Amino acid sequence: MTVAAQQQTHPDVDEVLLSSTQLAERVAKVAREIAADYADRQPLVVGTLKGAVVFMSDLVREMDPVPEGLQMEFVRASSYGAGTASSGKVVLGATTLSEADVAGRHVLVVEDIVDTGRTAARLVEHFASCGAASVKLVSLLSKPARREVAFEPDYLCFEVPDRFVVGYGLDFDERYRSLPYIGVLRPECYGGH
Ligand code: PRP
Repeated sequence: MTVAAQQQTHPDVDEVLLSSTQLAERVAKVAREIAADYADRQPLVVGTLKGAVVFMSDLVREMDPVPEGLQMEFVRASSYGAGTASSGKVVLGATTLSEADVAGRHVLVVEDIVDTGRTAARLVEHFASCGAASVKLVSLLSKPARREVAFEPDYLCFEVPDRFVVGYGLDFDERYRSLPYIGVLRPECYGGH
């Protein structure tokens, strides 16, 4: 396959919202900002599974070298009741961390998207309650139009409109995570209008 063919947009994608070049440039800029802020601390960088994995892998490589080094861990967060009459409670699941690992540490939570804000707010609250010395959150994307709880990331790469976006870690039904760009999914692919 030629390079040109490999770079074709996926047929289910209506529009490329953020190209791989735009992503790389912005992620590098935010990573340098974070590295400067953590110049005298060793951040405990906690990625949320699974959407943040692609972003986090690019982010930490652009943060290197943080003078004190950094530690990478992961946590799973799931929403229950979102979109129903219930509260949209966020439950934390599988993690590579114990509460003891967090005490006294400077936690940097890595999210792919802040949508309603419930997951991000729950994660920050959780790590603070574990005795972290500080907790900050970096998100690749934010959809302010969808916010249900007041939450703003400490570091943000891009604000996006209220459209169904996939790629660079974000999925629909576990598909499209490996696309190298952020694209708008065609409505007929997710039953939208
Ligand atoms: C997505 C995303 C965030 C969360 C944001 O995770 O990765 O963690 O939803 O939504 P909120 O602001 O409304 O809480 P998802 O549950 O889809 O899992 P995934 O990362 O494995 O795709």
